Amino acid sequence: MEVIGLVEKMQQASENLRLSGKALALVPTMGFFHEGHLELMRVAKKHADIVVVSIFVNPTQFGPKEDLNTYPRDLEGDLFKAENVGVDLAFVPAVHDMYPDRFQTTVSVQKATKHLCGLSRPAHFDGVTTVVAKLFNIIKPHIAVFGQKDFQQLVVVTRMVQDLNMDVRIVGVPTVREPDGLAMSSRNSFLNPLERESALCLKKSLDLARNLVARGEFQASILIKGVKEMILSSPFTEIDYVNLCDPVSMENVQKVEGETLLALAVRVGKTRLIDNCLLSAKLLRRI
Ligand code: PAJ
Repeated sequence: MEVIGLVEKMQQASENLRLSGKALALVPTMGFFHEGHLELMRVAKKHADIVVVSIFVNPTQFGPKEDLNTYPRDLEGDLFKAENVGVDLAFVPAVHDMYPDRFQTTVSVQKATKHLCGLSRPAHFDGVTTVVAKLFNIIKPHIAVFGQKDFQQLVVVTRMVQDLNMDVRIVGVPTVREPDGLAMSSRNSFLNPLERESALCLKKSLDLARNLVARGEFQASILIKGVKEMILSSPFTEIDYVNLCDPVSMENVQKVEGETLLALAVRVGKTRLIDNCLLSAKLLRRI
């Protein structure tokens, strides 16, 4: 596996690969790999000849009081894991190369970013879309792979690609979970054993909502109440949001009709975790 640090070198390498007729897939990441990241790389491999993984803890998507400085990092371990799943090229740029002194451009998706995580992290998605747009310009992938665990991010990036006619196909990958159901996340490493146990309430509350819908409960207010009660009955939890929304616009809905996204963000101790699932009233309606 080749490791490239400089933007200019990466652009040249991608250009050469494209000219030689290779299909390129990109998996953008901030590193500290777990099975979720590795699954994205495996999916990427199925879709392209060459898989490029970017590892860059992007400062512009962190708020001033967020965990940029303590964000977990393990470059050596990441490169080892990526190589093992068959990644061809790792792009590991430096902050000053991605954001030189006179940098002043932002890519901003206007509406889908104003809900869910966009409310508690106001500049977050501008940071994400800007860095992802830069990565697309540098690496020029035919395909880019994102996880559904960050469902709103996947939606926002897809919107950006459509709105700006970017010539890249976005592929979404279902959330990879620990055996007990906790969605894998680099931030899980911040949880102490008691918090780790408590964090199971996120997945359990999604299951509760799914069961309620299966039994014919479609009212958002009732589903949200049930989810919130289950989360708050676990220790160390503080709810940022529990929302039922349209999975394209991210706007709140009053009822589960067709596909509806149940998304939640919960602080467990000091660690902010997110999870989501799609609910559907369709199946039941047809019976
Ligand atoms: P990061 O949190 O490192 O995640 C990189 C990719 O892995 C994202 O597409 C995310 O959705 C996916 N991912 C994380 N946990 C997952 C899980 N349990 N199952 C499946 N996929 C999972 O998301 C970012 O980095 C950044 O915002 C980035 C897009 C790289 C821009 O800086």
